[in-house]
Amino acid sequence: MMKSEIAKRLEELKKALYEHNYRYFVLDDPIISDAEYDRLLKELSEIENAYPELVTLDSPTHRLGGLAAEKFEQARHSLPMLSLDNAFDTGDIHDFHQRIMKFLENSKDRILFTAEPKLDGVALELIYEKGILVKALTRGDGETGEVITANVKTIRNIPLKLQTSEESIPELLEVRGEAVMDKAAFENLNKYRLEEGQPLFANPRNATAGSLRQLDPSVTSGRRLSFYAYGVGIHEGAGFSSQIDMLKYIADAGFMVNPFIKGRISVDEVIEVYNDLLEKRPGLPYEIDGMVVKVDDFRLQAELGIKAKSPRWAIAWKFPSIQETTKILDIKVQVGRTGAITPVAFLDPVNIGGVMVSRASLHNADEIKRKDIRIGDTVFVERAGDVIPRVVKVVETLRNGSEILFEMPETCPECGGEVFQDKDEAVLRCVNVSCPAVVKEGIIHFAAKDSFDIKGLGESLVERLLESGLIKSAADLFVLDIEKLAALERMGVKSAQNIIKAIESKKTIEAWRFINSLGIRHIGQQTAVLLSEKYPDIQMLFKALPDELEKIEGIGPVAAESIAFFFHNPLNKAEIEKLFSYGVVLKKPEIKAAQGKFSGKTFVLTGTLPVMSRDEAKKLIESSGGKVTGSVSSKTDYVVAGESPGSKLDKANQLGIKVLGEEELIELLK
Ligand code: IVH
Repeated sequence: MMKSEIAKRLEELKKALYEHNYRYFVLDDPIISDAEYDRLLKELSEIENAYPELVTLDSPTHRLGGLAAEKFEQARHSLPMLSLDNAFDTGDIHDFHQRIMKFLENSKDRILFTAEPKLDGVALELIYEKGILVKALTRGDGETGEVITANVKTIRNIPLKLQTSEESIPELLEVRGEAVMDKAAFENLNKYRLEEGQPLFANPRNATAGSLRQLDPSVTSGRRLSFYAYGVGIHEGAGFSSQIDMLKYIADAGFMVNPFIKGRISVDEVIEVYNDLLEKRPGLPYEIDGMVVKVDDFRLQAELGIKAKSPRWAIAWKFPSIQETTKILDIKVQVGRTGAITPVAFLDPVNIGGVMVSRASLHNADEIKRKDIRIGDTVFVERAGDVIPRVVKVVETLRNGSEILFEMPETCPECGGEVFQDKDEAVLRCVNVSCPAVVKEGIIHFAAKDSFDIKGLGESLVERLLESGLIKSAADLFVLDIEKLAALERMGVKSAQNIIKAIESKKTIEAWRFINSLGIRHIGQQTAVLLSEKYPDIQMLFKALPDELEKIEGIGPVAAESIAFFFHNPLNKAEIEKLFSYGVVLKKPEIKAAQGKFSGKTFVLTGTLPVMSRDEAKKLIESSGGKVTGSVSSKTDYVVAGESPGSKLDKANQLGIKVLGEEELIELLK
């Protein structure tokens, strides 16, 4: 290929990668598979390696991280990043409103606000020159922050290049917002760190800050952060005159703006939105610690101005605390699936944000020592949404000398067997593979949602099956005797039949679920998927060596070692053979999209369909090889419009896309 052609291909690849990245991470509406995305990225990376002079600042390959830095530079913000005054109740909000009205006595208009969830993460400033992300700073002390550009580029929902059309690209745009780690990603990260014996992060905010302060950006890249934009700093060539218009502008430029933001609302509505958010809070994927209320109109904002460090036109309305104090009644240890012996604090039950909490994991002996936790201590306990409750710290002033130091057991509390602590791990483990606790947890994992997904087979039934001797290992589930099962306490014939039916129905299983069900250390669902793709025949895994496994992208040395160790153990091999001999069959991998009339065609459904549900319509289209996406673009082939179709229909008409009614769709499908 000629160099000019290569440069052209490079531009095409970058453009496609921006678009697919945006669809995936901002719109949550991908139109190509992850494998296809990786293929495009690989092609780009190969061209860049061959022609380093063609690498630009906005290249999507920067998402993967790059060279590690020695230290972070400091830089001043062109406009200070302010902080906010706090409000704690509706009284404070009314006072805030009164203050504003008094200050703006000349303004005859009604004052309108925006209400925005206050995400609990790390504030960032992203600087775009001529539409390209050139620098990213932490808030720092508000005047000066740290330059963490390479790390920030790894956050997938941050555009490396603004999506504004060529002719309206702003000369300069500073976008401000919050980087966060989802609660689920935080739990996973800590679970991993616990297993690896690394210190735990106290909460998602600390995990976000820690991830952004990595000198090696490839570490940040692996941490799954997201960014929500809520403001701008200096901007030239971008026009907006209110908070809500500005948010719309930055959303159009490719940023994620929080979907729960409400604009141009009255004080009374502000209060409604607060109560609504408070209710939504436990179900949100990220942590929020309150709501930010801002005067919407920029002209009024300017008139109101700033006091020492915070603006008069905004306030942070905090949520009630989700920390309470209570007493540690006892500390006991539990033995998990991998033999990990975990100390758990049994608490004097306490209501934290509407949920009774009576236990909190203390993770390991190091954590107990670090926080100096003793039985009888009064402690702060925190619970945020579905984040597992944790002991924050001891109230030392309330000690009376009767507190008892906790010691980890010298033998396994379940089987009395030997315990062992690896030199580079913080956890103590029971090494007995037939320890009843290890076996029980293993079977619970075997039947769980991402494994065999056997309905009705939870902790209590597994316990009863083991205690009664009906099963000794997971494989025995497939040869359960229905009469003996029905004879169990609290069971009966009907329930027994249901359980057997549930087990039978899962005998044919996807390979990744099967691999996940084995409970191999360091192997979660994602790695199970990778393994099942590389080794469609499980027999091949019995021979796989660590070196070979490590070559699979996404599998590191620790996981590779663990997989090989597991499959070379004759006991594990025997259990797997037993599963197959009892009738477990692995499904052939599915051919992804069905072939058919609609192969390669993209549909968008909008409005209420008179006959079918939208789900049914989606299934029908997909079974004919078509794809259904959530938003209309130039790539959409058909829009199926029902009653009250809304803006998607307008967009389809603007773009000249063919619009079908439900009947026409059915006609086409015939
Ligand atoms: S506005 C003058 N809006 O809360 C504007 N801040 O003390 C100041 N935060 O660390 C910030 N969500 O990062 C604003 N929707 C939002 C926010 C938000 C979270 C954080 C911000 C800062 C703190 C404000």
